[in-house]
Amino acid sequence: TVGKSTNILWHECPVGKLDRQKLLGQKGCVVWITGLSGSGKSTLACSLSRELHHKGYLTYILDGDNIRHGLNGDLSFNAEDRTENIRRVGEVAKLFADAGVICIASLISPYRKERDACRAIMPDSSFIEVFLNIPLEVCEARDPKGLYRLARAGKIKGFTGIDDPYEPPLNCEITIELEDGKCPTPKAMAEEVAFFLEKNGFL
Ligand code: PPS
Repeated sequence: TVGKSTNILWHECPVGKLDRQKLLGQKGCVVWITGLSGSGKSTLACSLSRELHHKGYLTYILDGDNIRHGLNGDLSFNAEDRTENIRRVGEVAKLFADAGVICIASLISPYRKERDACRAIMPDSSFIEVFLNIPLEVCEARDPKGLYRLARAGKIKGFTGIDDPYEPPLNCEITIELEDGKCPTPKAMAEEVAFFLEKNGFL
């Protein structure tokens, strides 16, 4: 909790989560994709969304870059604001999951403690953390937005992986890595996550 809201009481509605799940024919959950800039988070999010949509499941993507165009547009990239960014996305993702949606959150979310806090607010096993473990050299060589180049030139300060930390997960549900030095295709990554969701009763 933020801690400044006092004298508030939770209001329960008779139409609950199970009713929504029944209506939609699916269980809500959060697929949380974490990794460096340029590791392919948004690509995986899109590919997974497409794959699940084709199977008939309702998904919604909360992408770091996109959310910072609106809800989180007031936040910078310093530690305090990144922490708040992750917290807000975690809370919104929880609402989507409670609504019965498979919510795919794709943001760098560099701090372990904050990702764990997002996990902690979710009902048991409904937070699936996917670590896109693509080495910095590969992300930097790709540099899809030219941001690493700017960071190396000192034109962006506090860029994740360059002069700002990234803390890899210690116990995530899925880790995606290079295979024979190559990134798995978006489809292969999506299938791996979909397989996990199926095995764990979300599909
Ligand atoms: S965070 O760390 O979770 O709050 O970041 P996130 O909300 O995912 O936003 C990451 C995208 O913002 C762009 N960007 C930066 N990334 C890292 N460090 C700095 N300083 C920075 N400044 C801008 C960048 O395009 C990130 O997009 P992705 O998709 O991760 O490449």
